[in-house]
Amino acid sequence: MKRIVILISGRGSNMQALVERCAEQGWPARVVAVIANRSDAAGLRWAEARGIATAVVEHKAQPSREAFDFELARAIDAFEPDLLVLAGFMRILGPDFVRRHEGRMLNIHPSLLPAFPGLHTHRRALAAGCKAAGATVHFVTAELDHGPIVMQSVVPVRPGDDEAALAARVLATEHQIYPLAVRWFVEDKLRIEGGLVVHADGASQVLI
Ligand code: GRF
Repeated sequence: MKRIVILISGRGSNMQALVERCAEQGWPARVVAVIANRSDAAGLRWAEARGIATAVVEHKAQPSREAFDFELARAIDAFEPDLLVLAGFMRILGPDFVRRHEGRMLNIHPSLLPAFPGLHTHRRALAAGCKAAGATVHFVTAELDHGPIVMQSVVPVRPGDDEAALAARVLATEHQIYPLAVRWFVEDKLRIEGGLVVHADGASQVLI
């Protein structure tokens, strides 16, 4: 039974999708804790109501990035996770932290990486006139929003879309691909070959 710790910063809709799919589909895993860097993260209340352990490591209370990473690592280690899942976690983690969790830390980013790493992805995709957008689940490496890609979703950009409309269309697919990618991880289906992620049984790694 693999132990999953999820890190959030806000509403936590991806976290909710993961918790629900894990329970419904009987993954060989359990979400043992949800940890946030802000006590007002709405997702914490949802997790508490489900009886999941929660913790807060306020980045604002820490004197430096390194101190935050240290306190966060301490909070995480207490739950002895096999997998760390970043789900709308809005802090950049330092290279030492990332190295310690390499190969067992996933992130979801609301763009078709390597396009549009960083913030405001939907605004930037619209400004660039992209005709497709999407989301990417990837292993976390020290470089922000990089790292071996596990799965992507693709949606059309429709005429008249604004940021909110595009974000909602992409988010609906995030709730499908993130649980699938995490399930593959806990079922030991993911292999990294030559720096690229493949599914052991050749499952499609794109949702279109
Ligand atoms: C998602 O779009 C995720 O891809 C991005 O931040 C958003 C978080 O949403 N990193 P939620 O907190 O999971 O609802």
